Amino acid sequence: MNRPVMYASRKELDVELKVVEGKIPEDIYGHVFVNSPCGSVNSNGLPFPEKNKDGSFNKEYTSPIMNGDAYVFRFDFDEANKVKLKTRLLKTPCYYADLATRKDNPQADPNKYKNFFFRNMGISRISLALGARNELNTALVPFVFEGDKNSRMVATYDVGRPYEIDPVSLEVLTPIGRNTEWLSATPPLLNFPFPLVQSTAHPVFDPEKKVFYTVNFTKSTQTMLSSMEIFEMMLEDEQKTEEKLEELLTKVENGEKKESLEKLNHFLKNIRLEIKGKPAWWKKILNWILGEVENYISENTKTYDSVYLLEWTGKQGKLNKWEVLDESGKAIAIKQCIHQISLTRDYIVLIDSSFKFSIDILVNNPFPNNYTIDRIIRKLISGEMQSFTDVYIIKRDDLQINVSKVKAKKLVKPIPLECVHFTAEYENPNHTIVLHTAHNSAACLAEWLRPYDVSALDGEAIDRDYMGIFALGDMDIGRIGRFEIDVEKAVITKQAIFCEKGNTQNPSQIGANSWGVGLHTFRNIISPEVPTSNIKHIFWQTYGLNRDMLSQFIYNLYADYPNRIIPLDELKELTKRQIPYTLLHIDTSIMQARQVYVFPNNYNLRSIQFIPKKGEVPAGVEPELHGYIFCTMLIGEGEEPNVKYFNQIWIFDAKDLSKPICKLEHPEMAFTFTLHCTWIPTLGKSPNSYNIPVREDYNEVIKSIIRPKRRRTVQAFFNDYVYPHFQ
Ligand SMILES: [Fe+2]
Repeated sequence: MNRPVMYASRKELDVELKVVEGKIPEDIYGHVFVNSPCGSVNSNGLPFPEKNKDGSFNKEYTSPIMNGDAYVFRFDFDEANKVKLKTRLLKTPCYYADLATRKDNPQADPNKYKNFFFRNMGISRISLALGARNELNTALVPFVFEGDKNSRMVATYDVGRPYEIDPVSLEVLTPIGRNTEWLSATPPLLNFPFPLVQSTAHPVFDPEKKVFYTVNFTKSTQTMLSSMEIFEMMLEDEQKTEEKLEELLTKVENGEKKESLEKLNHFLKNIRLEIKGKPAWWKKILNWILGEVENYISENTKTYDSVYLLEWTGKQGKLNKWEVLDESGKAIAIKQCIHQISLTRDYIVLIDSSFKFSIDILVNNPFPNNYTIDRIIRKLISGEMQSFTDVYIIKRDDLQINVSKVKAKKLVKPIPLECVHFTAEYENPNHTIVLHTAHNSAACLAEWLRPYDVSALDGEAIDRDYMGIFALGDMDIGRIGRFEIDVEKAVITKQAIFCEKGNTQNPSQIGANSWGVGLHTFRNIISPEVPTSNIKHIFWQTYGLNRDMLSQFIYNLYADYPNRIIPLDELKELTKRQIPYTLLHIDTSIMQARQVYVFPNNYNLRSIQFIPKKGEVPAGVEPELHGYIFCTMLIGEGEEPNVKYFNQIWIFDAKDLSKPICKLEHPEMAFTFTLHCTWIPTLGKSPNSYNIPVREDYNEVIKSIIRPKRRRTVQAFFNDYVYPHFQ
């Protein structure tokens, strides 16, 4: 079980875990699902190896771990004294396209299907001929429509349609909404059969009204790749495109930033001329005609700022859809992304999330393995997150079938801190909404550690074992918030923030603190059956400070952070000393810590999930404490440079976090970074009452490919390598 820090298996398991300490509680029940990104069809899990099998350099090496296929874990607590584990990869149509074109032993002939293979470009995985992978690796959201006997579930990703999966087999069943019902973030001119769509990783299901909501938004991307002409040039001459881009970037690297960006934009707009030189006279005329046609098409298909709310009632047929406008009737421009949405009895809440996970960061670098290009592009275009959070509130009564647009109220003054995750309480008495918020203060979740990064602490190269991990050397202390909002006035009427340094003199006994505020859980979190009217007790993961993860790049990006509490010198000193992970219980009625468990140094708490205890809640016991906290753990033991890692599942009693009551493991259970979890009480097959046939869904897109030869080749590829998996 001794592994490096970044080690994850893609092996599909059906195993029983072994208890290594404590006892499985008798009243634990149901099923915990955990999502995680887990490498590519080429990597066999994580890490992405440095060399290919033939000894050549692997271009996926050091890719961000967020860029990976979904590998779902299901832990079953439905047999006494047993915990069983099932794991599966989520196999979407784009997964099979990726598999057919993988590096070793591809099923599809690479000469016939040139450039069909997928490559990692930063956080996204793109094929120049097919489009973007929908990796579904972020969250799992349960739902139960009227008449369903058991919970059903979607797997989600910020930049892709949600897909229903079968909770029993963990097979992918159907996307929610046809391709043609979603607006693409990439200019439609490209005609990718796998378009990149911007959505949310956290759609919501209303447990009372039994409806499901998600979003689809587009941005008028002014980023350098908006023209996408560079993809066309890569199809024609990839090596020359790379050389020319590198040459240009090296020239502009040390210039004034605005001027350098202008030069880069100019280069990209004229990339054909830059690479191919001046064309012959007849080509000029042909290009002019083609250019006019393409200009006409792109003018009519440009991506503009827009936000759509999509409603799914579980019935076969089209989703209900509304364009969300601001109060003056103008389109809403999302600056970052909509990582999470939430709902109350009468409102839907959207936030412009502090997470730069949208098309700008996704496809800005077509050559991430060229470190010169990657480094200079990152330097030129990386921006810090907004240091506040815009909130938009939609009145659910306005969502009528006979209208196509609704207006949202935007908070007059935003939440004064960054926010990536939040939950709204279901009840909204007197039009007051309560939001519980996680503040990733100066903690950039969309950045990852890269091979040319150096430590902000000593200028030394970042440890190679950490390449691709989230660049979470936080640049300030995190906060946990509770906000009351008067919806009519669109103002915050009350706010309480938990922000504690704890005992920084002795980090192993740090106590309650808010260094590195991560994921949270509570009783009935995203339950499809019980609305969470009042959330009094929340359990938080705090991930502390880790000296291996603060890069000079992140330090520079957030040195002037406007909400700073901790002076830079103190932050550096504490990062050197390190602060461990904790499991923290916050009582939201007083916004104070009630309990905390401090993990030993290098015991990394990854995901957390509340599991209610079986049976009635005894009199005098608060229901929100009557349960267990399930934790996925990555444990590092030993001294540098010989630290060995292994995985365990830890279970705490929610009312007593002084020590875990059960630890479990299995030699084949191997993960490095699990993400969001969910829990459902019973397991049953999905009735599959909503289904979009794969062949129909993609043929509709393929038939719109303009160039006949390309259209025929793509069609043949889908017929031979994608559709047979979905008969
Ligand atoms: Fe999330």
